[in-house]
Amino acid sequence: MSRKILLEHAHVAGIQGYEIYRKMGGYRSVEKALKSLTPEEVVDEVKRSGLRGRGGAGFPTGMKWSFLAKPEGVPRYLLCNADESEPGTFKDRYLMEKIPHLLVEGMITSSYALGVQTAYIYIRGEYKWIVKILEKAIAEAYLHGWLGRKILGTDFSLDLYVAPGGGAYICGEETALIESLEGKRGNPRIKPPFPAVKGLWQSPTVVNNVETLAAVPVIVNEGGDAYAAVGVGRSTGTKLISACGNLNKPGVYEIEMGLPVEEFIFSDEYCGGIPGGKRFKACVPGGSSVPILPADLMLKNAKGEDRVMTYESLSDGGFLTGTMLGSGGFIVFDEDQCIVRNTYTYARFYHHESCGQCSPCREGTGWMEKVLHRIEHGHGHDHDLDLLVDISKKIEGNTICPLGDAAAWPVAAAIRHFREEFEWHVRHPQEAQARNYGLGRLEIYYGAVGV
Ligand SMILES: Cc1cc2nc3c(=O)[nH]c(=O)nc-3n(C[C@H](O)[C@H](O)[C@H](O)COP(=O)(O)O)c2cc1C
Repeated sequence: MSRKILLEHAHVAGIQGYEIYRKMGGYRSVEKALKSLTPEEVVDEVKRSGLRGRGGAGFPTGMKWSFLAKPEGVPRYLLCNADESEPGTFKDRYLMEKIPHLLVEGMITSSYALGVQTAYIYIRGEYKWIVKILEKAIAEAYLHGWLGRKILGTDFSLDLYVAPGGGAYICGEETALIESLEGKRGNPRIKPPFPAVKGLWQSPTVVNNVETLAAVPVIVNEGGDAYAAVGVGRSTGTKLISACGNLNKPGVYEIEMGLPVEEFIFSDEYCGGIPGGKRFKACVPGGSSVPILPADLMLKNAKGEDRVMTYESLSDGGFLTGTMLGSGGFIVFDEDQCIVRNTYTYARFYHHESCGQCSPCREGTGWMEKVLHRIEHGHGHDHDLDLLVDISKKIEGNTICPLGDAAAWPVAAAIRHFREEFEWHVRHPQEAQARNYGLGRLEIYYGAVGV
């Protein structure tokens, strides 16, 4: 199961630079696409691969590409979403740092497929050092004729730019990203129109995650069917997982879709289990916005079947007993961790990051933070738990963008699965306070923090 597709060469010395990357077969997909495939044929290969967007929602990439409007005389844009600000997610950072040319290659081949002549990598503002890494890779690609005018002597031309982000989590939402790139405040737009019809500068635009675009070279080189043969069912290929929390070996792993969750957490090949042999209490497998699950439901679904790392298996049971693969930000909690404190921390984050456009999100995230703060600090009431569930229901589905859902789900799921722990906090405020002071450390990595 330790199949590597994206990171196969990530540990080759010097792979950050053009010469070694090229020696290891880099830029072959651009040659193949430009010399022997039409743009439509590249889109077809991506469709056949079953590749789904790695930014969180898992939308089929080939289908998204086929929605791109193509009015005569209007430019189209490809935007790479490298904003990566979801707590627990740091996989794109790893890919861009280790093997930046893979992303550049993926963007060139994808731009050819989409008929794009201008593309941007919108990157989390704190990733300052990666901006330099990418700019160097892009300069090398220009120097060797992979970017610029009439690439490989064909009619295809492409300019690629790096745009540092606006410094807010909301700028990762695709329409907020577009607003930010246009120089405005990163406020999400109402959809429709979707970016595929009216995106950057009101032109047709595709927004894809770093990992999604980095998968395109191998799909073009090996063929969509070969990519689809890896993985399970509708979860094809591999997935980068950034693992953190109480794990012996936190880090970024490339796993084949279908890997059992238990093997991922406990085997030495991956996370190596929980420090000190402590009990596995809970897990948030897809970045802070997906529902938390207690350990038993994380390892087996409600039917008693092993959970595996696929979109379908993790979401089996819906939100009652399931969760989501999301962005692959995998956070593990040992027996010492306090779910109330963790839920409060997330709520504070989402309140801080709400753009404020929609009342349910602007006000609701503030209320959730306030109520969780009082529970966490020993002033909770019995009715607070129902109040939190009620607020989360009033936010969910009632906002322009999914940040509202992302804020509501973790709170609702924590209360659904750990209600007794919340009640204990409310009824035993002093003991809860004392216990929390003695808690072990839980490190939830953010993209900008070193691992
Ligand atoms: C609040 C919020 C933050 C998001 N942040 C990111 C992000 O950092 N990176 C990302 O690729 N997608 C992020 N998304 C999802 C994007 O809106 C979009 O679905 C994604 O970039 C599409 O790429 P994909 O189809 O390749 O997954 C975010 C969504 C929301 C609602």
